[in-house]
Amino acid sequence: MPNNRHILVTSALYYANGSLHLGHILETIQSDIWVRLQRMQGHECIHVCGSDAHGTPIMLQAEKRGITPEQLVSEINQEHKTDFAAFLIDFNNFHTTHSTENKTLTELIYSRLQANGDIVAKKITQAFDPVKNMFLPDRYVKGECPKCGAKDQYGDSCEVCGATYAPTDLKNPISVVSGVAPIERESEHYFFKLENYTDLLKKWTTQEHLQPQITNKLNEWFEAGLRQWDISRDGPYFGFPIPNTENKYFYVWLDAPIGYMASFKNWCDKNKTDLFETFWGKDSTCELYHFIGKDIVYFHALFWPAMLAASQFRTPTALYAHGFLTVNGQKMSKSRGTFITARNYLDHLAPEYLRYYLAAKLNDGIDDLDLNLDDFTTRVNADLIGKYVNIASRCAGFISKNFEGKLADKLFDEALYLRFVSENTQIRDNFESRQYHRAIRDIMALADLANQFVDQNKPWELIKNPENHEKVQLVCTQAINLFRLLTIYLKPVLPQIASNVEKFLNIAPMQWQDIHKPLLNHTINPYQPLLQRIDPKQVEAILEKGKTLMTDTPTPAENISKPTPSDIAPIITYNEFAKVDLRIAKIVNAEHVEGADKLLKLTLNIGEENRQVFAGIKSAYQPEDLIGKMTVMVANLAPRQMRFGLSEGMVLAAGPGGKDLWILEPHAGAQAGMKVK
Ligand code: MSP
Ligand code: ZN
Repeated sequence: MPNNRHILVTSALYYANGSLHLGHILETIQSDIWVRLQRMQGHECIHVCGSDAHGTPIMLQAEKRGITPEQLVSEINQEHKTDFAAFLIDFNNFHTTHSTENKTLTELIYSRLQANGDIVAKKITQAFDPVKNMFLPDRYVKGECPKCGAKDQYGDSCEVCGATYAPTDLKNPISVVSGVAPIERESEHYFFKLENYTDLLKKWTTQEHLQPQITNKLNEWFEAGLRQWDISRDGPYFGFPIPNTENKYFYVWLDAPIGYMASFKNWCDKNKTDLFETFWGKDSTCELYHFIGKDIVYFHALFWPAMLAASQFRTPTALYAHGFLTVNGQKMSKSRGTFITARNYLDHLAPEYLRYYLAAKLNDGIDDLDLNLDDFTTRVNADLIGKYVNIASRCAGFISKNFEGKLADKLFDEALYLRFVSENTQIRDNFESRQYHRAIRDIMALADLANQFVDQNKPWELIKNPENHEKVQLVCTQAINLFRLLTIYLKPVLPQIASNVEKFLNIAPMQWQDIHKPLLNHTINPYQPLLQRIDPKQVEAILEKGKTLMTDTPTPAENISKPTPSDIAPIITYNEFAKVDLRIAKIVNAEHVEGADKLLKLTLNIGEENRQVFAGIKSAYQPEDLIGKMTVMVANLAPRQMRFGLSEGMVLAAGPGGKDLWILEPHAGAQAGMKVK
């Protein structure tokens, strides 16, 4: 690692249509700890964020409230800014995607994509609300599931049977916006030809540091083949108009990540620096990291690097994805009161309890992370108050009362001090690699040692005997120095407490390097309590309040802010579908493929002909169990050259993945070669 790094960090841009909840806060606590660590090491580390302002949900939400989308966005932007600041998230800039910087950059990037020939126009058919006169995103159409008949299902998938489908498949569909039956209407959309960047993306994913789980996900997507991405929407839509078109807007997810650049540009302008090119130029040597949730990896790992490379900007150094926050083991729920908004938490508890608890559990993976509220109370009280703060509170009084606040001029146990110092590299590296839980474990083990030191030397006993007067000063000086080291290590997590400790110790803001020099022969200030224990009643009050929030009917916008399958898979017309030649195939051979973790090599007979197909179903099937089975294949798929050989078609399989993946198995009467109708 270079001595002085130049780093740009982003956290996801938060939809400006609702309040922040603790899941959002988890993300920014993770990124903020990382950023603060870098800054403490003396690196330049700029953290930008902002509001994701565009899209149908925000447009409709504003309309419902009788304000303009601009007003809604600026109100929520302000609220989010305030909440993040209260959680001690130190952004350099919190901007919005509805900004002139973003408009300029979006138009620039789009024009470069166009110039490359990466944009194609295609007519597609979509659900249209004839009363509202607008096209309906999938989740704005509800009706009966075409598979199981369940009522009141969204237009993209059934929550009862799990089927996924197009809104046009729903039975008795209605528009969520007006309540009338939608009609189908055709319109021209613009698509980004993502497949042009397959090689580039494959290279990017192997060269850069992606988490292994993400690399696996990417490989699945590559195996499935990259598809064109619909980047336009028809008006009415809250977004940027696409130049030289009538009533067409950029889809919110096109300009959202560009918002990172826009926020940075806005920061540059405010600070009168011209670092934009240095950080975003094609040949930039600065580091760029995106902290994101696992649900938005697709956008950041595929579309985003492709867009950047296509428009001659640098690509990210790495994506740091995290899992989701659950509360008491379950998805946050309004009826249980566990849908905890940032505000609700802050009204009852200090931010650093949560920062500490999450740090103690965070790692570099994408598994969900549970906020168990009982464990939270116990752990924070035991670690922060019982162990960490306890060291200072037990020793500080002796120094102020008996030595006029003056620390001794030497350490009592230098070896112990050096032991604390020697762990700094490991602690730092664990923070750097986002293994925060390990860093916290090591810091708390040191806190135990510091407490043992105090217990063994008992200043409260020593003070009774005037002969031991000097020793009291030495013991307490030692303990306070150990406490100071712990505070430096915890400073990325507990910045406010660290700042209060700096006041108590009467010292300048601490940097990581300061560990090497103990604080001796120095006058400190009288100790003020640094932190109160959490009273379980405070946690109760949060849950109570959470339940009252339930009476607010959830706005559709809350549910609909996420991308849906059709963002990725455009709706196709009947004629397009009719081109697919589906055939019954007999699996005459199946074997493992050397070096492939997901693929099996199948030989499929479709009557006259045998086809070789590589299918990503190894996680669910043993080759020998497949031989002799009938299945369904796409027989007219253009052959694809894969690393292991030519694949001449595709078998159909369904399921969430892993073991739960099933090939379609037609009834025994089916014969190889039959056309599927
Ligand atoms: N606007 C998009 C991001 C655009 S980035 C160019 C978006 N916004 S969001 O408000 O829905 O989510 C913002 C971030 O919060 C995302 O990274 C998302 O994964 C994260 N989280 C939302 N709910 C979460 C939890 N329950 N737990 C942890 N993170 C969660 O997506
Ligand atoms: Zn269903």
